[in-house]
Amino acid sequence: MTQAPSAEDQFDEHASRRLESIYLTPDVVAQRAQVMALLHAQPGQHALDIGCGPGLTTQALAEAVGDTGQVLGVDIAAPMLTIARQRCAATPQVRFELCDVNALPCDDASIDIALASQVYEYVETIDAALRELARVIRPGGRAVLVDTDWESAVWASHDDVRMRRVLETWNEHIPHPQLPRTLKRRMEEAGFDSVTVTVVPLLNSVYDRQTYSVGMMDMIGGFVTGRNGLSAEDIAAWKADAVAIGAENGYFFSLSRYVFVGERA
Ligand SMILES: C[S@@+](CC[C@H](N)C(=O)[O-])C[C@H]1O[C@@H](n2cnc3c(N)ncnc32)[C@H](O)[C@@H]1O
Repeated sequence: MTQAPSAEDQFDEHASRRLESIYLTPDVVAQRAQVMALLHAQPGQHALDIGCGPGLTTQALAEAVGDTGQVLGVDIAAPMLTIARQRCAATPQVRFELCDVNALPCDDASIDIALASQVYEYVETIDAALRELARVIRPGGRAVLVDTDWESAVWASHDDVRMRRVLETWNEHIPHPQLPRTLKRRMEEAGFDSVTVTVVPLLNSVYDRQTYSVGMMDMIGGFVTGRNGLSAEDIAAWKADAVAIGAENGYFFSLSRYVFVGERA
């Protein structure tokens, strides 16, 4: 397996905008609401949005903590922060900083709630980063981490061998593609207590560009082309197959995301 590209390299302006549009599809909007419900954010709290990306989660946090609360969004990719700042320009309780999750710009025990959605799977130094997260959460505060295991993907295809090659190669875009399997233990070792895990599924049963899975095909296709012998023709055929299977009323995609809620004693 080759080394995963850095987050800064993966999220240039184009990729950041593309991810934003995928994260605005109704299925992802609904999933974000499910995650926010597990966070139990309260008015007046100090919240941290780690790897805030285009600021959709930051905006949801700002609504939850209200104008008596504060939200700090941090990300390592400057193009993401540009989008996030535009999104939250009219929300005074929000500010953003460019930083790495390994060096959070927060005092010890200063944060009531932290959210990191689809972030730690990108972080090579995961255990040090989780200790850094635990450092900034106050006693009684909580962190909610959301991560995906793409081996949970069920994606209908006329060519299962090609589908497996595509998904195995896509695993190479991050250093921890199966992070959910070890994240509870890692959070506990980093200083969180009573870590609970919930599964939040994404399900698409029609071929529709306004869904997560069809939106992700360009991103996945762009990454895997030229890796592990997958040619541009292979990827064109993979995409065309999804259209064809959709036309037969056979489109089916399901992916599990895992939500970890950890508290600081
Ligand atoms: C898949 S996006 C998720 C964005 C957002 N959390 C959401 O769910 O809408 C992952 C984000 O994590 C950020 N990220 C990855 N590694 C990071 C690191 N070491 N420090 C800070 N941000 C990081 C990326 O730049 C990107 O914006």
